Amino acid sequence: MTRHIAFVRRPGASIGDCLLTHRDREGIDLDLARRQHAAYREALSRLGREVIELEEADEHPDAVFVEDPVVALDEIAVIARPATESRRREIPSLEAALGPYRELAHIAAPGTLEGGDVVRVGRRLFVGLSSRTNQAGIDQLRAHIAPLGYEVHAVPVTGCLHLKTGASHIGHGRVLVNRDWVDADAFVGCETIDVDPSEAWSANAVLLGEHVIVPAGAAKTCARLRALGLNVHEVGLSEMQKAEGSATCLSVLISVE
Ligand code: GLY
Repeated sequence: MTRHIAFVRRPGASIGDCLLTHRDREGIDLDLARRQHAAYREALSRLGREVIELEEADEHPDAVFVEDPVVALDEIAVIARPATESRRREIPSLEAALGPYRELAHIAAPGTLEGGDVVRVGRRLFVGLSSRTNQAGIDQLRAHIAPLGYEVHAVPVTGCLHLKTGASHIGHGRVLVNRDWVDADAFVGCETIDVDPSEAWSANAVLLGEHVIVPAGAAKTCARLRALGLNVHEVGLSEMQKAEGSATCLSVLISVE
């Protein structure tokens, strides 16, 4: 039987000391962050994911965003090389988590790469060229996965932290996009669906079959997603967004036969 695993890590007590790039610092309500994370885990479970929790890491303020140190594909997990020292310290826990399930490859200096910059559409990976991911990182990723049949396309990102802050695959070759933050035309061969302009953070959505987990508070974008036939699950993520992360960054999804 196929196991559909979601690796997650609860927000640690130091989340208020998180890195911020495009956002001003706001107080993070830790209790609310924990409740929101519990609701996120519950949504993953309800949608058939086996939730595996990584050890809490109070010493790493951004460690709740488990997606960033890895790019997990069906055949391989490419351990990324975050652009900041603080986030590189999260790598060993992701290596330990993914190692039993996937062959591991690594991004080496001078490359930098963060999983939040990778939008996968089938065998095509659109990778943000951002303040966190550089061309050397993208080239190394391509060298690891092109032999497996993946295409890698670089997408300049200037308006937000990661490519996935402003764009997510929502199935059937469709990409949900906030074109104020990312260049929608970069998603060559995909149909782009705009978020409502008043709901900037709703472009970061987790796709699970015909279901999507979307940050709560984006009624107009959710209506667009429902009109496409998707089952929409809203989860409050305000405290994660204050830490400049959102729905996709909170989990690493793999399937295991
Ligand atoms: N706060 C998330 C990050 O900057 O990586």
